[in-house]
Amino acid sequence: MTEKDFIPSGYSQKVTSGEIAWRAPSNIALVKYWGKKKNQIPANPSISFTLDNAATTTSVVYTKLAQSKGHFSFELVFEGKPKKDFEPKIKTFFSRVEKYLPFLRDYHFTIETSNSFPHSSGIASSASGMSALALCLMEVERELNPKMKIDFFNQKASFLARLGSGSACRSIEGPIVQWGNHDDTEGSSDLFGIKYPYKVHKVFENYQDTILLVDKGQKQVSSTVGHDLMHNHPFAGQRFEQAHKNLSELQQVFADGNLERFIAIVESEALTLHAMMMTSHPYFILMKPNTLEIINKIWAFREANKTHVCFTLDAGANVHVLYPESERDITLQFIKNELVAYCENQQYLCDKIGFGAKKM
Ligand code: DP6
Repeated sequence: MTEKDFIPSGYSQKVTSGEIAWRAPSNIALVKYWGKKKNQIPANPSISFTLDNAATTTSVVYTKLAQSKGHFSFELVFEGKPKKDFEPKIKTFFSRVEKYLPFLRDYHFTIETSNSFPHSSGIASSASGMSALALCLMEVERELNPKMKIDFFNQKASFLARLGSGSACRSIEGPIVQWGNHDDTEGSSDLFGIKYPYKVHKVFENYQDTILLVDKGQKQVSSTVGHDLMHNHPFAGQRFEQAHKNLSELQQVFADGNLERFIAIVESEALTLHAMMMTSHPYFILMKPNTLEIINKIWAFREANKTHVCFTLDAGANVHVLYPESERDITLQFIKNELVAYCENQQYLCDKIGFGAKKM
């Protein structure tokens, strides 16, 4: 596949109006995407668990314009209220994907969107938000071209979501999605995420992710700026190589269910991500004191109880606590007893591995 395969040659149907809705989940990376090239091409491959509960639902009402305007015609409603602040983001997204969705200037779109998680919880909604919007736009394209195959639909939705936000391309399918060229993964692509194609041990079924909300404030440094700082980063080369190796090793771990190795890779990836932030120029720290308190508690608990609880981090202070379903009770008890105290307003969200976006 090349990006040209996503440029439609024409549409078989004429459609004047309609309404569609999709619910797309968030995802949590195990091997992290950090650093990118032009056009949202990742500097290294990444892999994630698709989540189940943390999701964005977006509906789009589209009406054909009597005459195409010179600009995109849309309005945005977020959690029931018009949201002007989000409009520039959508406009940028529309202009990036216009080449692949030539109908965009022919319609007026009313986009209504809401998240399942609390607003300003520090949970990034860009992955679920961009994938839900990309799926809605693909649904319009499917109306115009009803013979479209499901594989193409998913690939192009992921391709478009990627242009909105890189990690969003891993939020179309589930339960495990890989994105970025990787020699050991057949079918892997820089252009879109693919469903992890190899064997996965049953210990990973229903794998749990409890998200501890350590800091709900606005991040001091956005992911976009962070990615940019990987250009000319002194350790970038080794880091990108390490991601390839970790992915290859994860394939073995997924096959044989070796949770000790799983933990070692996942925690190292999280700390490496933050080490990249601390060693870029300018350097920055997104972890908070409570992030470290939680990590230390997790290590002590795992050692004392011989369980398989581990952590990962995204580009922020919140901690994702990962554990197998068989250890759910003991881990939730531990979280309530020892970790909740480090969360802002004691807040945390229980989630687990999920199966991808759903049409509503
Ligand atoms: C740390 O996908 O938010 O969560 O492509 O600029 O929108 P943009 O970045 P984004 O970066 C996510 C980074 C990460 C790691 C990951 O999800 O792989």
